[in-house]
Amino acid sequence: MTNLQELSISTEAAENVRRIISQYPADKKKSALLPVLHIVQNETEGWLTINTMDNVAKLLEITPIEVYEVATFYSMYHIEPVGKHVIEVCQTGPCMICGSEKLVHYLEKKLGILVGQTTPDGMFTLKTVECLGACGYAPMFQIGETYYENLTEEKVDQILDSLLSATSSNI
Ligand code: FES
Repeated sequence: MTNLQELSISTEAAENVRRIISQYPADKKKSALLPVLHIVQNETEGWLTINTMDNVAKLLEITPIEVYEVATFYSMYHIEPVGKHVIEVCQTGPCMICGSEKLVHYLEKKLGILVGQTTPDGMFTLKTVECLGACGYAPMFQIGETYYENLTEEKVDQILDSLLSATSSNI
């Protein structure tokens, strides 16, 4: 079993990982995979390297491919470097009918990047994802753990401006 130190995460995060794993039977550690990946990703600049995923596999006593499968299937995991804020625009039917496609084009133009790319200043990554379960408030996107709903171009401007000013006031 991998020493938790190999994951290079904080003591608090390591404690959380240990606690989550302990909630499952010793031969069912794989069940802890999703929450463990969340914790580790939050500690590793928001994305998972191959090495990190391999260490998670060792920790949970599963094969690396089992970790890769999960990390590449769910849009909340990132396997490439991402910006400080990852904008995940829902592109499924209800959001599309309510204008998500137009919103994506607006974001691409505003940020000067295409879907899948990160702004040169490292502030924003733009992604499209499938239904985030807020169809009644379409169109919507998620940034971090926050949902932004009933979006318009004006609302998008306000959201991005507030994220930028929050960042600059933290510097
Ligand atoms: Fe966009 Fe469900 S279709 S949240």
